[in-house]
Amino acid sequence: MDFELKLLPLARICSEKCDALVVLIPQDLSAGGDDPLSALAALALKAGDLEAKPGKLLSAYRTPGITATRVVLAGAGDASPRSVRTAVNAAMANLKNGNTQRVVVSLAALNNPQPEIVRAAVVACSEAAYVYSTTKSKVSPVKLQRVVIGVNELSVARPGFDKALALVKGIEFAKEWANRPANHATPTLLAGAARELARLRNIKVEVLGPKEVAKLGMGSFMAVAQGTSEPLRFIVLRYEGAARSAAPIVLIGKGITFDTGGISIKPAAEMDEMKFDMCGAASVLGTFRALAELQPALNVVGLIPASENMPGGRALKPGDVVTSMSGQTIEILNTDAEGRLVLCDALTYAERFKPRAVVDIATLTGACVIALGGVRSGLFSSNDELAQSLAAAGESSLDPCWRMPLDDDYAEGLKTNFADVANVAGRAGGAVTAAKFLHRFAGGFPWAHLDIAGTAWKGGAAKGATGRPVPLLLDYLLGQVTAAVPRKAQPKARPAKKSKPVSRTRA
Ligand code: BES
Ligand code: MN
Ligand code: ZN
Repeated sequence: MDFELKLLPLARICSEKCDALVVLIPQDLSAGGDDPLSALAALALKAGDLEAKPGKLLSAYRTPGITATRVVLAGAGDASPRSVRTAVNAAMANLKNGNTQRVVVSLAALNNPQPEIVRAAVVACSEAAYVYSTTKSKVSPVKLQRVVIGVNELSVARPGFDKALALVKGIEFAKEWANRPANHATPTLLAGAARELARLRNIKVEVLGPKEVAKLGMGSFMAVAQGTSEPLRFIVLRYEGAARSAAPIVLIGKGITFDTGGISIKPAAEMDEMKFDMCGAASVLGTFRALAELQPALNVVGLIPASENMPGGRALKPGDVVTSMSGQTIEILNTDAEGRLVLCDALTYAERFKPRAVVDIATLTGACVIALGGVRSGLFSSNDELAQSLAAAGESSLDPCWRMPLDDDYAEGLKTNFADVANVAGRAGGAVTAAKFLHRFAGGFPWAHLDIAGTAWKGGAAKGATGRPVPLLLDYLLGQVTAAVPRKAQPKARPAKKSKPVSRTRA
């Protein structure tokens, strides 16, 4: 789908040719516009036929004086990015049944179209237009072809628009790979997706197979993969947008392409959804896709331990003890707690990059779904500054998370008589005990863990990947750009003073 940002004041919008015109109406619509549309909106509000609440709509067909075939007035409440998202979602759902190919979404009645508002509108439009088609025999053509975002002022809106287009590419890349069934998204195929990204500017990829992983001593990761005939892959992505000397941020994505539970097998109901157990990996791929578009001055490393988790004659058994790359031995009491087993070796591998920060992203626990539902991802971190940056990025990108505790007392249940650590504790506090397991392997750097088990996909009739937390990760990374300026290339903000090396914050 094509997006265009256009200077389009309300006075001119009536003669804009399109299939549908969506005009966002804030609760404080300033009266006075004498164009037909403002007049119509003011009238409808006054008559009580339109509410300015986000999600409320009033639509019209072939209205005299308006060139667009359909007009949808969409209440946008306080005109916050969140309200704008709700409004655009509602308007797009309303237009779904008609033959709408070209839409104009006007933000011109919102007094202050900040970049975040433009982004919210663009992302909501792309979401409405998204259709998964890879494994369908007949590809139903996407109806919505073109979206014009109309604004009063281009210069304010432009940065938000450009960022949104990159974000949309990232979200769509993540969704595509997350939605593919496991037989169309094997570890090898995921590595292929990473290789595809490496064709883009400043992105490199290296893919390790079973031999290399064995050589590295990733005994925990290998243990998960031993039950499947699908060979494991350890994917190393690099985005190099800053000087070599600038320490990278490492993103680690859980890439379990299908999680049966292994010998501790899962019940059959909804097991198909475990094809989504690589959504962490997909979010890393999607984030790299967006980085390639935006080219920020940063270094980012993406690590994806990818494998299936299957039962079988060679599979890991409850009680088996394996040796992780860190040297710590792990007693595997439940083969369904496999995510932490692949992530722990990736965390150890991350040390070699001397990272500024490491963030792992994983559909790790059903317990996190119980704790936070599908609204917020679970955030766990050993570092307050990193936690705050991630939490803030979640808010600004409308992809929120919530910080959870990491008290050492939660690690009590991981004690065992037969190894350094067990891979599960009891049922209580399952999302936290999983994070405490990872914490043991994240010693040398500021570390955070995002449990996206509840947020990465939706079940039911609208089953499908959400693309989360690509928006959060991208906002977090872009927020780190200033902090990442290499010491040699300080901006010339204070030319008079002798440039003193800025102490780099470790987050
Ligand atoms: N991939 C699952 C977590 C999951 C379950 C995500 C349901 C979304 C929905 C993970 O590998 C897993 O099976 N975790 C176990 C851990 C338990 C054995 C300690 C869980 O949550 O049940
Ligand atoms: Mn599992
Ligand atoms: Zn899993």
